[in-house]
Amino acid sequence: MRLSTNLLLASLSFSLAHPNKRVSQGSLYIADEGVGHRSNPVPRWRTSFRRLNPDGTNPTTLQQFGAPDQLESPVGAYALSFDPLARQFYLATGQGIVRTELDGSNPVTILKENSTSVWITSLIVHGEKLWYGTGHEGLLKRANLDGSGMEIFLNVSQGLVNRYGASYTPSYSHADGIAIDDEKGFIYWSAYSNPQDFSAHLPHGGSIRRAPLTPNTTEIEILAQDIWSPGQLRLVRNSTLYWAEAGQYTNSPRALKRAYFPPTKILQPGDAEPETLLDSNTTDLLPYKITSFAIDEKEGEEKVWVVANSDAAIMYGRVLEMGLDGSGLRLVNDNVTQIGVPVGVEYVL
Ligand SMILES: *[C@@H]1O[C@H](CO)[C@@H](O)[C@H](O)[C@H]1NC(C)=O
Ligand SMILES: *[C@@H]1O[C@H](CO)[C@@H](O)[C@H](O)[C@H]1NC(C)=O
Ligand SMILES: *[C@@H]1O[C@H](CO)[C@@H](O)[C@H](O)[C@H]1NC(C)=O
Ligand SMILES: *[C@@H]1O[C@H](CO)[C@@H](O)[C@H](O)[C@H]1NC(C)=O
Ligand SMILES: *[C@@H]1O[C@H](CO)[C@@H](O)[C@H](O)[C@H]1NC(C)=O
Ligand SMILES: *[C@@H]1O[C@H](CO)[C@@H](O)[C@H](O)[C@H]1NC(C)=O
Repeated sequence: MRLSTNLLLASLSFSLAHPNKRVSQGSLYIADEGVGHRSNPVPRWRTSFRRLNPDGTNPTTLQQFGAPDQLESPVGAYALSFDPLARQFYLATGQGIVRTELDGSNPVTILKENSTSVWITSLIVHGEKLWYGTGHEGLLKRANLDGSGMEIFLNVSQGLVNRYGASYTPSYSHADGIAIDDEKGFIYWSAYSNPQDFSAHLPHGGSIRRAPLTPNTTEIEILAQDIWSPGQLRLVRNSTLYWAEAGQYTNSPRALKRAYFPPTKILQPGDAEPETLLDSNTTDLLPYKITSFAIDEKEGEEKVWVVANSDAAIMYGRVLEMGLDGSGLRLVNDNVTQIGVPVGVEYVL
């Protein structure tokens, strides 16, 4: 027993000391939701924006949000997206969408929802527009990069949840991940769904959907379904869709999957069999909820970083790394003081 433990430790320290020879040149950027009253015994901190080397070293806090004296309840964050043209970041926070420079400086709140029951569930910068999903109303919206010109693009609510009574009826579904393929003219989203009955603990009616890039279209295709909390989406090399199945309750399955969906009409959900790249059933490196992932697509350096956090009273965060095909999974950092409680991650060269 002792011998095998020592061998394991020896091989672990070897792999830590000799990481993949092909080192990613960029940095990981993390939106950290902050730690408030649930934090025992971890110290509290504000919602923040952080940077980390891809190997988990050199953690830096670039910016913090919310009032410094309200550590009990950080403003929170939901999503992060990078604009490669202006080299700026957009963070969906509890105080609206905030834009910062690459180094986190000059934070400007560019857009705020008017209703306090509405929050921003997903956000991407695509071309000259900001695309985002809203919780409670279940809308997909877009706006100019300065926050002006906001318009509803698509109502993805799929009806309302009535279990709370007539005075509070959230949408059944909202977009928890967005991806756009300009060339083939599609918008993809993760249709997160609110169960009508929590006590059932059945797999949710979550799905991955797409539609033509036409406002208020009714031509919606269901690409995959029966998913527990589908989350972040990314199109890799403009063709293969990667998605997170975030998990929700303790022990609900969590996974990272990918599939190629041809541009021709999908006849049945499940027509394109997804490939599972990371699966909570087969690794104990993933004990928490997957909140986001980022990809280095560069030939010869391909990597995926997955960020996960806990939903429990004690806050945990993790950054994992693997190949585009899920190979070589390893932990790069789980020190919550260094990485925060990650809810969004971007890889930027
Ligand atoms: C908030 O309300 C103002 C004034 O009615 C409107 O111009 C703006 O577009 C609204 N913002 C959002 C995000 O709905
Ligand atoms: C979106 O659709 C829901 C029904 O699913 C409806 O109740 C709601 O009013 C619609 N929202 C808008 C802004 O049209
Ligand atoms: C989509 O429909 C909504 C009404 O539900 C409307 O307010 C919005 O302007 C339409 N979007 C576009 C881009 O035409
Ligand atoms: C993906 O599409 C965008 C624009 O639609 C293009 O600028 C980019 O070069 C494409 N990337 C790849 C890897 O094909
Ligand atoms: C993990 O196993 C459970 C029970 O067999 C199964 O329902 C679930 O789909 C598996 N997880 C994934 C990500 O496939
Ligand atoms: C976590 O990171 C902090 C700040 O870098 C450091 O002080 C602390 O020792 C680290 N904890 C562990 C368990 O490595």
